[in-house]
Amino acid sequence: MKASYLFVFLLSSAVIWQQACVTGKKVQKQNITLKQAFGNDFLIGTALSLDQIQEKNPEETALIAEQFNAITPENIMKAEVMQPQWNTFNFEPADKMVEFARKYNMKVNGHTLIWHSQLPAFVRSMKDPDSVRQFFENHIKTIAARYDKKILSWDVVNEALNEDGTMRLSVFLEKLGENYVTEAFRLAQVAAPHTELYYNDYNIEQPAKRKGCINLLKKIQQAGVRLDGVGIQGHWLAGKVPFKDIEESILEFSALGIKVMITELDLEVLPRNVQGADVNQRQASNPALNPYTNGLPDSVQQQLAKDYEALFRLFLKHKDKISRVTFWGVHDGQSWLNDWPIRGRTNHPLLFDRSLKPKPAYYRVLKIKS
Ligand code: G3I
Repeated sequence: MKASYLFVFLLSSAVIWQQACVTGKKVQKQNITLKQAFGNDFLIGTALSLDQIQEKNPEETALIAEQFNAITPENIMKAEVMQPQWNTFNFEPADKMVEFARKYNMKVNGHTLIWHSQLPAFVRSMKDPDSVRQFFENHIKTIAARYDKKILSWDVVNEALNEDGTMRLSVFLEKLGENYVTEAFRLAQVAAPHTELYYNDYNIEQPAKRKGCINLLKKIQQAGVRLDGVGIQGHWLAGKVPFKDIEESILEFSALGIKVMITELDLEVLPRNVQGADVNQRQASNPALNPYTNGLPDSVQQQLAKDYEALFRLFLKHKDKISRVTFWGVHDGQSWLNDWPIRGRTNHPLLFDRSLKPKPAYYRVLKIKS
């Protein structure tokens, strides 16, 4: 008798254990990550800081590797880092990033070859157009050639437009003339024949800027120069996401025969007076403008989740036109929005919080695919 009791006990334990495994598997299956959920739709990217590229925090590295299949360097491929002095290049951080991407099987979008901001001091003080041209050509040729076949794509030119769609006044426009954007693509196409070439900007979903952007992109195409895609940065405000403009711009950009990407996605939850992502615009600090230092109230958390869900539904609707959606940072603690347009705030614009925990927005985005 005792033996048969023991047998029944062992058998039922085995069944319970097996069920637990199956349930465990089920839980694991439901626990799919962003890159698994959207793997057949578009790349899911994040911007990485130097610390993240150097794998300083193992928990962050694990999260990045598990969730994303594309990376954009947040700062280390900008001109001030890559060419701090005339014809002196600093390839180390970018090389490290290429290694990181290879190790974790990720695509890299190089950001960025030509941008008016974060230029090395020697360029900012240049008066002579020939010197600017020499820098411009040498910078593009050297860097684009070095990373050809190592990265998927380049933001060849970043933020060349004003809000009304006219060309932004910059050292490049001033010294090289309007055609500098097309020239940048022409140089990149020669130096990096295997790399996709994109134009990247913020607020280009807005009608006036969008129109200017389409004209600019058409000029590149009409010059017979290769243009592979356009990046809508996606620095939007929670509760005020311009869904209609975004959809229209996806359709209009894609009608040019190029890929469309959302390249720097985040949703601001704090009050601010400035729109877009012009790093030169600043606002004075004031405690009333930093209301969520102890975490997000539920109503705002839900608004953020609702907006992210609606955005991803829209991206999925146009997945045949969208090749990548990249968040501008891995978690809230890393976001540039903690320091812009007001320094030292506690912002919450991404899917993972400061302790790397997924927020309700993360689950709402994943639920679309379940
Ligand atoms: O590297 C210096 C460091 O040496 C110094 O000690 C420290 C003190 O402030 O500053 C460090 O530089 C900072 C740099 O990020 C690297 O961390 C700059 O102050 C800071 O202004 C800079 O901000 C970056 C910003 O571009 C600059 O233009 C943000 O991290 C980055 O997220 C942001 O990214 C841009 C995209 O490239 C283009 N689209 C808009 C987007 C948001 O502004």
